[in-house]
Amino acid sequence: MQTAARFTQQLAATVGRRGFHATSTSNAKVCVVGAAGGIGQPLSLLMKQSPYVTELSLFDVVNTPGVAADISHCSTPATVSGHTGNDEVGAALDGCDVVVIPAGVPRKPGMTRDDLFNTNASIVAGLADACAKHCPDAAFCIISNPVNSTVPIFAEVLKNAGVYNPKKLFGVTTLDVVRARTFVAENQKFDVDTVDVTVIGGHAGTTILPLLSQVEGANFSEEDFKALTHRIQFGGDEVVQAKDGAGSATLSMAFAGAEFAELVLRAQAGEEGIVACSFVENDITQAPFFSTPVLLGENGVEEVFHYGDLSPFEEEGLLAMLPDLVAQAEKGVDFVKNRSK
Ligand code: NAD
Ligand code: LMR
Repeated sequence: MQTAARFTQQLAATVGRRGFHATSTSNAKVCVVGAAGGIGQPLSLLMKQSPYVTELSLFDVVNTPGVAADISHCSTPATVSGHTGNDEVGAALDGCDVVVIPAGVPRKPGMTRDDLFNTNASIVAGLADACAKHCPDAAFCIISNPVNSTVPIFAEVLKNAGVYNPKKLFGVTTLDVVRARTFVAENQKFDVDTVDVTVIGGHAGTTILPLLSQVEGANFSEEDFKALTHRIQFGGDEVVQAKDGAGSATLSMAFAGAEFAELVLRAQAGEEGIVACSFVENDITQAPFFSTPVLLGENGVEEVFHYGDLSPFEEEGLLAMLPDLVAQAEKGVDFVKNRSK
């Protein structure tokens, strides 16, 4: 295992974003699961605009026909189909190359992401059953919270079905990177299109660790370093509070989810040098799943990079988060063990 070369990260940071350089094409079928929701609708719209998608399948337990009809009128090449309910999940998933899953309930003020576990664990496990049956070879991008537990749940269900491929299961932590870029660019007066920040760990509070000490050309005061780290870790709460009971981040999450899904599609299409942070299985730390930069290829994760050198403050943050990450993964594994289908 090696540390991601800075130039590779910078290259990916620049060419890796949506709308930069389309240097490859693909004939991919993508399914958005939870497509009628707050994230699902704008994410589906963004995927309809992707040059890498030829077939866009929208699945939800409610309201999918309307969303599909609406999005299908957008004048881009991808064909759109809408599927509702368990009877139609097979048609939605069959032949998929990438499945993006923002299905499940969002937080309200005062809740942690872990408070969503009881509801979302069952939803995600049920969807993993369907994916194992209908599209076991797809790349799965999990957005549903709590990501630190839902990704291990998805993995366990696929394992039990004998179809788990750790190279193709991703917890989407791109929103943390998107926030980090935005807040760092504002603070340092950088061009946001060229700044990149590695964010490691998981996706909940202090398990989110932006590596500000590695940001090229940045010069933070100690106060700003700590304040920015905190803001990136708790950016989700900022949105939950501002929405005041109407849910959590949807538009920025759709932006981030589309960016990540498109990187996976581009790598599947043979484009080289695509590096992104994602919550994947690896043994860099004692946590079974850990977000770190990974090299994406035609068959998913090609290489997991070590996150590199940390400042003493970041080192402390990493050590403090690991027991939480381990416990939240175990909670997911236990859920699958005790689950009756
Ligand atoms: P939402 O309630 O607006 O939408 C969720 C959608 O999922 C609904 O349309 C619902 O019908 C659908 N759904 C529920 N069960 C389903 C099932 N079994 N199959 C298919 N669809 C199903 O919620 P939202 O704001 O879109 O958030 C969705 C999830 O994403 C939440 O768990 C939220 O916490 C999470 N989230 C994660 C991140 C991240 O960075 N990973 C960011 C924002 C939100
Ligand atoms: C986020 O980071 O915005 C999401 O995980 C949603 C949330 O609950 O904060």
